[in-house]
Amino acid sequence: MIVPARHLHGHGLPPSDHTTMLADVREGLQRTPKRLSSKYFYDAEGSALFEAICAQPEYYLTGAELAIMREHAADVAAVLGPSVLLIEYGSGSGLKTQLLLAQLATPAAYVPIEISPAALQESIARLGGTFPHVEMLPLCADFTQRITPPRSAMQPLRRVIYFPGSTLGNFEAHEALALLSKMRDEMGEQGAALIGIDLKKDSAIIEAAYNDAAGVTAAFTLNMLARFNRELGADFDLAQFNHRARYNGMAGRIETHIVSRRAQTVKIADRSFNFAADEAMLVEYSCKYSLDDFARLAARAGLRVKNIWMDAKQQFSLQYLERAEALDG
Ligand code: AVI
Repeated sequence: MIVPARHLHGHGLPPSDHTTMLADVREGLQRTPKRLSSKYFYDAEGSALFEAICAQPEYYLTGAELAIMREHAADVAAVLGPSVLLIEYGSGSGLKTQLLLAQLATPAAYVPIEISPAALQESIARLGGTFPHVEMLPLCADFTQRITPPRSAMQPLRRVIYFPGSTLGNFEAHEALALLSKMRDEMGEQGAALIGIDLKKDSAIIEAAYNDAAGVTAAFTLNMLARFNRELGADFDLAQFNHRARYNGMAGRIETHIVSRRAQTVKIADRSFNFAADEAMLVEYSCKYSLDDFARLAARAGLRVKNIWMDAKQQFSLQYLERAEALDG
């Protein structure tokens, strides 16, 4: 169910979401190998740590995407055209969204979609203050689920789904394909998508981005266990687990694991889970694409890449897609 953010109150997750989290964690820890969903990184602490990751010198993705927007926002806005209903998967990626909104000609409305009501409200307060003439229509929802775009006061000429940050890379290929197909449905016949995609490059550069010297990414990864302690009453001893992020060149992705430093038992609610020494739990994929890889994936979802903007070092791309048949005519 989609609930407009302004009708939501309070902090933290509703009890039903804690029940889901507990069930997910139990299910993931019963698997061989163990696996936990990366969506559980993002509580308030995790979101703050992710912001800190974006400021680390090794994490080139944010700087590169910002550089693209700084240099090409006017061109991007010209391609999107006037009276766009801009739908963002995520709660407004700060400066990138501001740079885009500032260039758009008479945007019909801005629709951020975000599961965290607090993040959504914060983004609307920030962007609403900067763009008082743009209608803000926040949706508190999971963007992987089907969305019905809200009606704006101004009739839009088209919908554009903005999905920056290379967050699509956190989905496995089959999930990314399903998400792109869903975007194709939601954008409508005249619609488009604008997607930030991190590119394949020297694996040392990629590995450094996920193993920053200050240890912020390690703290971000292990915060997932701290969150389970806080919210599910688990007793993970964080000092007994390590962060490990390695680039798998064959699969073209960073694979992040939490590794148990010794044989140990962890209690979560009324259940115990055993970890062997060096046992690794998969917690995140960060997939990297070549331009051809991504064009092929998009084509399988019935989309065609029409424009690509890149930073000077060609590390990151912002890709503009339309429905494949809309380009054939
Ligand atoms: C949000 N997402 C695109 C980040 C990434 O690069 O995969 C999450 C992240 N995980 C570790 N560092 C950053």
